[in-house]
Amino acid sequence: MKLFSLIALCALASAHKITQLKVPLYADPRRAAELSCHFEMDDQKLHSVKWYRDTHEIFRYNPSQKPPIRLFNVTGIMVQGGECTADSCLVRVMPPPLATRAAYTCEVSTEGPKFQIARQAKHMTVVAMPEKDPIIIGAPKLVKPGEQLLLNCTSDYSLPPSDINWYIDNELQKPEIWQRTELSPPEVGGLRASWRVLRVSVPSGASGALRVRCEAILLVEPPVVRDAATIITIYSRTQLSKYVSNSGFSASPSLCFWIITLANSFIYNTVIRSL
Ligand SMILES: *[C@@H]1O[C@H](CO)[C@@H](O)[C@H](O)[C@H]1NC(C)=O
Ligand SMILES: *[C@@H]1O[C@H](CO)[C@@H](O)[C@H](O)[C@H]1NC(C)=O
Repeated sequence: MKLFSLIALCALASAHKITQLKVPLYADPRRAAELSCHFEMDDQKLHSVKWYRDTHEIFRYNPSQKPPIRLFNVTGIMVQGGECTADSCLVRVMPPPLATRAAYTCEVSTEGPKFQIARQAKHMTVVAMPEKDPIIIGAPKLVKPGEQLLLNCTSDYSLPPSDINWYIDNELQKPEIWQRTELSPPEVGGLRASWRVLRVSVPSGASGALRVRCEAILLVEPPVVRDAATIITIYSRTQLSKYVSNSGFSASPSLCFWIITLANSFIYNTVIRSL
């Protein structure tokens, strides 16, 4: 047993190996992604370097062949090109416009008669994050009790598209069937905007304010959340009088003040002086 481990260790120590595999964790579907594989040959002769997406070969470098590089298009991926040196291979792929996760494997093999293989894989997920917060359309500053509102929350373009949740005073509003998250047609790279409407019935006895918030969630790991909020004030009698006094009769208090002042001086001048 011990001897076997020792032999295995020696074999490992003398074997060629992959020293670094660079695969981005996330790829933007609008840009090509660069993947690179660095290796050490340890005095062995390089036979070939192959790249696989899941189980499909997408790239092959074989220095003894002409041309040495061959690209293979497979469903859902476009291999744009690549370059190899004696100790590295780089490949450029255009990710599919779909929110997918795939394993990319680099495989380095030595010349015969041994044909030893070193292999390493990493996952890449295609995703495009939203760049802006969602926007709420249709929210007035003031509502009357008993009034109905139709609010619309629209997210920024992303891949996968965002899911939308509405909250009123921090309480999640369960969607009715006709209020599900809807999607826009796809843009370049498969990005879509999404929107969801929320109907709000302001109770007839309501007062105060409604804090309305909408969340756009991108279900990646970990989820990406962006939100927007607005305050809608409910028109009540006190707010009504405040509103009226602020806008309509703002001069009246100072007018009263002057009338009283004038009256006071009149009284002072005519009544008090005459005493
Ligand atoms: C892969 O597909 C793209 C686009 O369809 C094409 O331009 C390219 O030549 C193809 N490459 C190969 C190796 O078939
Ligand atoms: C919600 O807003 C988006 C654009 O921001 C629009 O495309 C959609 O038609 C609106 N939905 C409703 C029901 O108003």
